Amino acid sequence: MTSPYSRLQGTGSYLPERVLSNDEISQRVDTSDEWIVARTGIHSRHIAAADEGVVDMATVAARRALEAAGLGADALDLIVVATTTPDQIFPSTACLLQSRLGNRGAAAFDVQAVCTGFIYALATADRFIRSGGARHALVVGVEKMSRIVDWDDRSTCILFGDGAGAVVLSASDVPGILSTHLHADGRYADLLQVPVDADYLTMQGNAVFRMAVRTLEEIVQETLVANDLEGSDIDWLVPHQANIRIIQATADKLGLPMERVVTTVAHHGNVSAASVPLALDDAARRHCFRPGQRLLLEAFGGGFTWGSALLRWL
Ligand code: COA
Repeated sequence: MTSPYSRLQGTGSYLPERVLSNDEISQRVDTSDEWIVARTGIHSRHIAAADEGVVDMATVAARRALEAAGLGADALDLIVVATTTPDQIFPSTACLLQSRLGNRGAAAFDVQAVCTGFIYALATADRFIRSGGARHALVVGVEKMSRIVDWDDRSTCILFGDGAGAVVLSASDVPGILSTHLHADGRYADLLQVPVDADYLTMQGNAVFRMAVRTLEEIVQETLVANDLEGSDIDWLVPHQANIRIIQATADKLGLPMERVVTTVAHHGNVSAASVPLALDDAARRHCFRPGQRLLLEAFGGGFTWGSALLRWL
């Protein structure tokens, strides 16, 4: 039986125990807490232990999301994981996660869209559910960015962290996800990348910053127009957590005060595909969202890729 909509049933997240402060980074490279906070809004980030992989982190976040949804792993018929930093080339992180959770038989695969990965994965699961291909989907964003960061490059090592976020999406007769919007432009690949023969990511920070601000303004407008809404109709912005100045620029464009913007970047930095579900779970567990409220999720990342999802809270 097909249902016309998918909706969020539960959220979960996980951050590794180890917290790395700006002051600690300043001991290794020529930077300061003051500079990092002023330019990025980041105070600290979490770093996974050497023997802690993305599957370990994803498993904790997924179990928390399943618990919040009141579902067992056996109920899942779709698992989609967004990650740029898998533990293995194959099998996919989704298959490894499926085994840890004790699910058998669900379709399971990874999505690679860097920082936009969670939005891509969410949009994919939404389409599966609306077309009758799944009833209960687990969507995870997880990263161990510390593995691909050059800790001697002050322009990038200050930005990234590790962690996982997850949601359970279920078929529904009432609207949950209202629309999703995905885009990419591969001409900008070399502005933010990890070439196959390189150990670390490289980024032209200023160019990425400017593109991110402009592109996110466009995607929020596209989302509003598609739903015949105005900025004031949005109750919460749940943005990709990369840089507080990028988030503020998007909120300004929407005319949203920062009290209605979920910001968690200060304490976990940019966790790439995990940033949006980390922010979503943080606000959900603080009971920020009210039933029926409209949430606008958005992200921008390497590729370039960018996307958004508009949804009604459960
Ligand atoms: N500490 C102190 N100085 C630093 C520094 C650091 N950690 N990193 C860079 N600088 C210096 C640069 O060397 C440069 O010095 P110069 O003027 O003497 O050459 C100066 O700061 C300005 O560099 P610039 O790169 O223009 O700064 P910026 O205002 O763009 O801020 C970023 C740098 C990385 C914080 C910013 O570009 C950014 O956030 N970009 C987007 C990152 C992002 O979100 N990426 C992921 C997208 S998903």
